[in-house]
Amino acid sequence: MCGIIGYTGTEQAAPILLDGLRKLEYRGYDSAGIAVLYDNALTVCKITGRIANLSEKTEDGKATPGQVGIGHTRWATHGAPTDENAHPHKSNDGRFAVVHNGIIENYQALRAELVEKGYTFESETDTEVVVHLIEMYYEGDVKNAVIRASARLRGSWALGVLCTDCPDTVYVAREASPLILGAGVGENYFASDITALVSYTRNVMYLDDGEFAAVSPAGITIFDGTGRPVEKKLHRITWDVAAAEKGGYEHFMLKEMMEQPRATEATISPRIRDGEVFFEGFALGEEELRSIDKIVITACGSAYYAGCAGKIAIERLCRIPVSVELASELRYADPLIDEHTLLVVLSQSGETADTIAAMKECKARGARTVAVVNVVGSTVAALADHVIYTWAGPEIAVATTKGYTTQLSVLYLLATYLAGKKGSVPRERYDACVAAIRSIPKLIQEAIDLNAAALPRLARKYCDHASMFYIGRNTDYAVSLEGALKMKEISYIHAESYAAGELKHGTIALIEEGQPVVALCCNEDVTEKTVSNIVECKARGAEVLAVTFRDNGRVISQADDVIALPRMETVFSPAVEIVPLQMLAYYVARERGCDIDKPKNLAKSVTVE
Ligand code: G6P
Repeated sequence: MCGIIGYTGTEQAAPILLDGLRKLEYRGYDSAGIAVLYDNALTVCKITGRIANLSEKTEDGKATPGQVGIGHTRWATHGAPTDENAHPHKSNDGRFAVVHNGIIENYQALRAELVEKGYTFESETDTEVVVHLIEMYYEGDVKNAVIRASARLRGSWALGVLCTDCPDTVYVAREASPLILGAGVGENYFASDITALVSYTRNVMYLDDGEFAAVSPAGITIFDGTGRPVEKKLHRITWDVAAAEKGGYEHFMLKEMMEQPRATEATISPRIRDGEVFFEGFALGEEELRSIDKIVITACGSAYYAGCAGKIAIERLCRIPVSVELASELRYADPLIDEHTLLVVLSQSGETADTIAAMKECKARGARTVAVVNVVGSTVAALADHVIYTWAGPEIAVATTKGYTTQLSVLYLLATYLAGKKGSVPRERYDACVAAIRSIPKLIQEAIDLNAAALPRLARKYCDHASMFYIGRNTDYAVSLEGALKMKEISYIHAESYAAGELKHGTIALIEEGQPVVALCCNEDVTEKTVSNIVECKARGAEVLAVTFRDNGRVISQADDVIALPRMETVFSPAVEIVPLQMLAYYVARERGCDIDKPKNLAKSVTVE
């Protein structure tokens, strides 16, 4: 995700901004820029690629005089990574410069309105509307203009605003994106992330949603949306810099798991308007939809498993046949794909070699392609006819977590969208699906909270086993595939998933005294069946860890241990059910002293076959 930094004080701003941006590099970015105020004029310098390029361009900042400025690392969401799309963005009158972290969901409507009023745009970003809105509302009072502009925005934002009429003050605003104010002596700072600040000050204040601040060398004034002052407590940061990069978490994987409520919210909420699912830049006409006779989902690794869970939702809601194919197999399978096939390609990185090859193979056979990708401008995104981005932000841990849950979020939205277009579900069911998808972020948070205390204890119990089995049926089976993969890739415990109904066809031969079996039981249609399998495993001495609703006494009474979940809509349950399984794998790996963020032999992005 993007990172922002701001400084005002007695030192030259540019070197401090560049240093702050370097500290934000770990978050991932594709372009960067700074704006500095000097002699009542703004100097903006922005460039695609590394911070090193920006440093070189500004002679490490020395070539850019001025003691107040803002900086930004961009991780492209709206518009490709280019110099024009990099922040800061300037107003048409040259009076304002803005950096932004977040997504302005209503930018298209605002852009149309501003164009109508004569404002010209230089970028494809959602952010640029903000700077023009501020110019439009400016009547000599920047604070007022920033409040009025923010009131027009929907979505998430942490903003830093410079104005040539206020030579030493930076204005900031926050809504659903982190913004931290750093208090110094005769100088003050802000940033999206503590990492960028700790080497300058450890005294910070946290801005809350709907709040603003005016940051000047003399002090920081915080105010609300009506302009009234807000009191804030100063906090003292005691972490070291390395911990700060991980936001205080011990590992990136833990941080990314905890980010899942926010990541799924960022992926879901912009796609639901007035109770309808829609995708920016992707729509299927009735004619087009009628001509599709099947959907093929292709991907690798966890993305493939997300496809397995997505298939169930699409088939249930849309009554279109869906097959899920490993990209490494599909590419050589001489596949039965033609212009009546809708190919859905899932890839966090957008650079997985097999996924790209399978996609090319299917395109050559006439398939229409929709890519569900996290990295803007990636190869998969470029090859696809339509792209639906998962707005998870950069994922650093090799084992994906928020990548998977945001992919599922998109697949559920897609299933509901197609069902609505096809008329394959009644209106009430459609509305219930929209409501259920909307509740995913909240339910993930509940799943985390319900199990946060118990999971480290369960991990201690199960960490010394040589192998673990995961069983489930239907949606539960789909999640168990990803749960077992998480366990084996980071803890190196042999973990296999089996469709519970297959136990009697072989696997049960492996069940002996003390064998851990993780039994997933969140699909009420088949709970009774899975309970029978639990009983069979227990009769042979297995230790059963059940994953089920917290009030499902039938399952709980049979299990040795329980991971409890809030109740939820069955067809979408994998997005929530997986989270405690990720956490279980994490804590087991931690008990075993594994290198969690960089498991042996694995790569984040497999760009070779
Ligand atoms: C690697 C990663 C996995 C990921 C898979 C597919 O194996 O370690 O976490 O699921 O690649 O990657 P993609 O970027 O295409 O989703």
